[in-house]
Amino acid sequence: MKTDTFRGRNYLTLLDYTREEIETILSVAFDLKRRRATGEPHRLLDTKTLFMVFYNQSLRTRNSFEAGMTQLGGHAHFLDSNKIYSPAMEGREVAYSTERVSDVARTLGRMGDGIAIRCYGDPVDWVYGDAHEMMREFTRWAGIPIINMECDKYHPCQAMADIMTVKEKMNTFKGVNFTMSWAYSPSVEKPRAVPQSAIIAASAVGMNVTLAHPEGMELDPEVIEACKKNAGATGGSFRMTNSFEEGLKGAHVVYPKAWCSTELFKPPVGSGSVEKAKEINDKNKSWICDEEHMAMAEKNAIYMHCLPCDRGYEVTDGVVDGPQSVAFDEAENRLHAQKAVMSLLMR
Ligand code: CP
Repeated sequence: MKTDTFRGRNYLTLLDYTREEIETILSVAFDLKRRRATGEPHRLLDTKTLFMVFYNQSLRTRNSFEAGMTQLGGHAHFLDSNKIYSPAMEGREVAYSTERVSDVARTLGRMGDGIAIRCYGDPVDWVYGDAHEMMREFTRWAGIPIINMECDKYHPCQAMADIMTVKEKMNTFKGVNFTMSWAYSPSVEKPRAVPQSAIIAASAVGMNVTLAHPEGMELDPEVIEACKKNAGATGGSFRMTNSFEEGLKGAHVVYPKAWCSTELFKPPVGSGSVEKAKEINDKNKSWICDEEHMAMAEKNAIYMHCLPCDRGYEVTDGVVDGPQSVAFDEAENRLHAQKAVMSLLMR
């Protein structure tokens, strides 16, 4: 693989990266984690600027990018979409309130070295795919790397930290049974970017992936097809079940997380009905990762969550704070994984 294969690339989904490239990002992330631990300077992005446009709230993503850029010698600049002329696609423009994506991208592209964007849900009226398409539009105009900090389809920064954490704990991907499961939350408006990117990443590096969710919580069929293809190419496997208990059997990695019902999305993907989405959620309150459910997985299984978790709904305090939980290592690995992505793309 050419060493400069990453420079100038966008990072919108791991579907745009080969297994070899994903493994390279991971090895850079581990090296940067070691360098931070030993106090070895690593100002790989000296004087560079990352613009971060947020349409949605964030704790981990914003702070890991800001801290990461500081540690790399550069600067991450926070832009609240409501405090700038909110970048909008043609058809969603409002005079003197929004600015066309092509104009924002060309402007920021002349001033900085990367643009990171978080957008899903209400800002695109829950039209599935519109937020991702807006990021693709940024890539057409910016001339500098665009990084997806979570859209309506993918969260590749979270996924890289997820598989980094598995590698750290299991020392291998081969033979690791990775269960991505839905979990109950009273909030119905959660994007499906985390589970979709997690199963793409886990299958891309050869794990045996199980996707467990109740009926009505199906993920994007294109993502499912990509996972099956990954499994075929890597020697891993991919299976789906509508039973939480079945999904937990044999799992070395348990990753239960709430996501929205398909019904929440506007037609033609769903019915656009919050009420219908809530009805499906509320039928499945038993999908909580408690001690009893954790005991159904392998003895030393790890519990993962991207955070924030809904305690008492998605997971019990005993599990997320317990000895099997790696959720906070996973949160820390956001920092190292994103530093790797930024230093490879924005050099
Ligand atoms: N996991 C994650 O993306 O966290 P934030 O929403 O806090 O950024």
